[in-house]
Amino acid sequence: MHGVFPVGNSPHDHPGRGHPMSTQKEAPPEETLDPEDWESMRALGHRILDDAMDYLETLRDRPVWQHAPPEIKSHFEGPAPSDPEPPGKVYQEYLDTILPYQVGNSHPRFWGWVAGSGTVMGMLAETLAASTDAVSGAFSYQSNNYVEMQVLDWCKELLGYPRDAGGLLTSGCSASNLIGMAVARNTRAGFDVRGRGLRNAPHQMTIYCSDEAHSSIQKAVELLGFGSDALRRVPVSESMQMDLKSLKAIIGKDREDGLLPLCIVGGAGTTNTGAIDDLNSLADICAKERCWFHVDGAFGAWAAIAPGYRHLVAGMERADSLAFDLHKWMYLQYPIGCLLVRNPDQHRQAFSLTPAYLAHGEGDRGLTGIDVPWLADYGFELSRGFHALKAWMTLKEQGAAKYGRLIRQNIRQAQYLAALVEAAPELELALPVSLNIVNFRYIRPGTPNSRLDHLNKQIECELQEQGVAVPSIVTLRGRKYLHVAVTNHRSRRDDFDLLVQEVIRIGGELA
Ligand SMILES: Cc1ncc(COP(=O)(O)O)c(C=O)c1O
Repeated sequence: MHGVFPVGNSPHDHPGRGHPMSTQKEAPPEETLDPEDWESMRALGHRILDDAMDYLETLRDRPVWQHAPPEIKSHFEGPAPSDPEPPGKVYQEYLDTILPYQVGNSHPRFWGWVAGSGTVMGMLAETLAASTDAVSGAFSYQSNNYVEMQVLDWCKELLGYPRDAGGLLTSGCSASNLIGMAVARNTRAGFDVRGRGLRNAPHQMTIYCSDEAHSSIQKAVELLGFGSDALRRVPVSESMQMDLKSLKAIIGKDREDGLLPLCIVGGAGTTNTGAIDDLNSLADICAKERCWFHVDGAFGAWAAIAPGYRHLVAGMERADSLAFDLHKWMYLQYPIGCLLVRNPDQHRQAFSLTPAYLAHGEGDRGLTGIDVPWLADYGFELSRGFHALKAWMTLKEQGAAKYGRLIRQNIRQAQYLAALVEAAPELELALPVSLNIVNFRYIRPGTPNSRLDHLNKQIECELQEQGVAVPSIVTLRGRKYLHVAVTNHRSRRDDFDLLVQEVIRIGGELA
């Protein structure tokens, strides 16, 4: 017998107690999805884990990304399988047709958009969570929820947010923004939004964010029924921060027009440039205007734990709701995001709904007795994966101090890259680096900007297609730049040396 688990102690485990019906001749054989041959499945499991470890250990030796050829695309066009295939064959198909054509974000030279890179312990934790098909959100007297509550407490502690706040782990910052803004709407609308709906709103409500805010803010505004016309995109200053004078003027005009300024969304690290709004001033304006203060800190919130950089996000702790990811700058496997809400009652009131089949809190026994709040009362999802386990296991394994050092390392690597760019006459930095994002382009004197836009787009594609590195491309002030977002715990300084060298090589060849 393998393993550490005692067997045979269930009251229903004893032989000879089968139901009499099961002996009837005409009953069809009963089936299950468990393996017929546990031994060979176990061997396959060992092989898969070994291969996954090898893959991670040798990441650096492989291209970051490779283009899937047309035959791979057509490979995935067949009908649903009706007959079984041997598990080893299914796995081989994964190795041949799926694994090589991943996005590549775990590679040390993946810096496109803003991505995560995953941890080995995170992978193991996901396997463990899957092994019990763990479902989190409902139920009491079970450890999943204790783990999630502890991870939420750790996030509050590390980010300097009040310990008695409410919170929820989510599938990412888009979901966190949506849930946070739903709490804002229901709390500040001044009427019963849940019961009466927005069509009965006494005032049209408006929401404010910077021109550089992430698209998930607009999606949330649309999903919550405000309509994107209600979203005021405030211009940014030279440093890409929300311009406070413009914000005040727009709010003033909206009040004059009889609208209800409901919520200001501050950015702690924008996707394009990593700019952090002046969060303390935004908190002051919110207090004065009686607006909800929501902060989108998808990745930038974590600057708070980097030694020497906490001041960058000062004021974030004053937010009524704070949204961020753990699958970006906490390097954990997708998906895991988080929302914290200062007032847990307001958070709960926005979502709690208890039909009879989900009754809970009646006593202190069984899964529906209550010892910790049901997390399903704090969001729109009932069934959720056990996202918390990978955060809990990895944070314990690595310690928060190391996380702080890694985030500082990424900030310093971004500064290092910016210095390399500034030293190269063929390259131009878009703007000073404010956090962990570097935007730059290849230039040639006398070449028009439209040609440079095209050239830099080609350089991006060549870097990706040749497997060298994955930056993305952004448009800033009308010009295209290579975009390098350093949220990768595997990157080293020489990866950035290589990037610069290759951009200059490819740029020279293409030009
Ligand atoms: C600033 C910002 N907010 C929100 C999001 C959305 O996060 P997610 O992709 O986890 O839904 C992103 C994603 O990059 C982001 O950069």
